[in-house]
Formats: sequence, C-alpha cells, structure tokens
Amino acid sequence: MSKFLVAPSMLSSDFSDLNAEIKKIDEAGADWIHWDVMDGHFVPNLTFGAPVIKKTRKCTDTFFDVHLMIEKPEFFLNDFVEAGSDQITFHVESSTKIKDCFDYLRKKGIKKGITLRPGTDLKTLDPYLADSDVILVMTVEPGFGGQSFMEDQIEKIEKLKEIREEKGYNYLIEVDGGVSEKTAPLIKSADVLVAGSYVFKNDYKTAIDSLKIIKS
Ligand code: DX5
Ligand code: ZN
Repeated sequence: MSKFLVAPSMLSSDFSDLNAEIKKIDEAGADWIHWDVMDGHFVPNLTFGAPVIKKTRKCTDTFFDVHLMIEKPEFFLNDFVEAGSDQITFHVESSTKIKDCFDYLRKKGIKKGITLRPGTDLKTLDPYLADSDVILVMTVEPGFGGQSFMEDQIEKIEKLKEIREEKGYNYLIEVDGGVSEKTAPLIKSADVLVAGSYVFKNDYKTAIDSLKIIKS
C-alpha cells in the first residue's frame, strides 16, 4: 500500500449534525469513517451506541470502521453488525471470549480487528494476529480525543509490520490517537491513520490530503 488510508474519527465531529459531517468528510476524501464507541466502564467516557451508527449508515456507503471501547463486547456485537458496521475492532483487555467474537464476525461476513491499550504488551495479541483483518495500535490512552501522540508506541507498529512479513499475515496496521501531519511521518509502517481533532479542527480536505501525501 503506497498511501495511508485516512479514517476521520467522528468523536471530534459535530454530533448535532452527523449526516452533514459525514457528507463533508466523504467529499473531503475520507477512506473509512471511524466510530469510537465508549461505555463509561472500559473507558471513563460515554459516546454513542449502535442506533446512532444505524441511522447514519443511510447517508453514505463509505466503510464504517467501528472501534469498541466497551466491556464484554460479545454482548453487543450483534447490534453493531445489524447497524451496518463494515469492520468491528475491540480491545484485547475487554473480553475473555475473543475467539468467539472472531468466529461470530467471520460468520456474519464482517471484518474483525483487535486493539490494545498503550500499556498492554503486544504479545497478548499473538493468538489473534493470524485471524485479524486489522490491528489497531492505540497511540493515546483510549477514552478521549485531542491527546498527544505517544512516541513509545511506534515500536509496536514497526514490530507488527515485521511479524506480518515474517509470517505472511494479512492484517492492516491502523494507528489511533494524536495523529497529525507532524506525527504521521513517524509511522510510515502503518496502513491506516485515524484522525479526529486534526481533521475536524482544520479544513477537512486539506487535513486528509496532508496525511495521504506523507506516505505517497
Ligand atoms: C480515543 C479514540 C480516538 C480518538 C482520536 O479513545 O479511539 O479514535 O478519537 O482522536 P484524536 O485524533 O483527536 O487523537
Ligand atoms: Zn478510535
């Protein structure tokens, strides 16, 4: 892949007019739309659930990349599948039933990914790497937009690329947290960049283009 895919995070959008925001990021060239679902337990913040995703699904065909920051995602997967998610990623720390979740998503034909908090060892993902469509590397503590990029997570991104080459795995490497035109050059081993504040606090197209240019 020669260019980054860019996935604006709706967490930083204007929640009072989601359809208009989606239309604007579509026109600005978003490759994926990233949805940050938080339950107030797994992370100390609450956002939205499957009904919001379902309603907005009607206004775009763009790939819906759903990042679950919730405890026991196995209880909610069906809702997010029915809502029209194209890909669902959940945290390795959030469930003891990750294999079951993967099996379920495979059966439903939905792409599946796994992610981890910055303090979690990459080795915890070993049992899931072969089956993952995406590995999401958190470069901030999950819960809030607008935090600073954690450079000490770059090693994980490099390592994931190395493992993929060595073992012939197929996952994409996605990076989430503090991504901007300043930090993207540090993570050229990644394939997909999530960007919340950077896109929504600037001109959307200029911000998205600036990220795409960095790897091309
Ligand atoms: C944090 C979320 C991120 C967040 C990124 O828990 O997973 O997707 O929206 O926001 P920025 O790009 O502002 O760091
Ligand atoms: Zn996210």
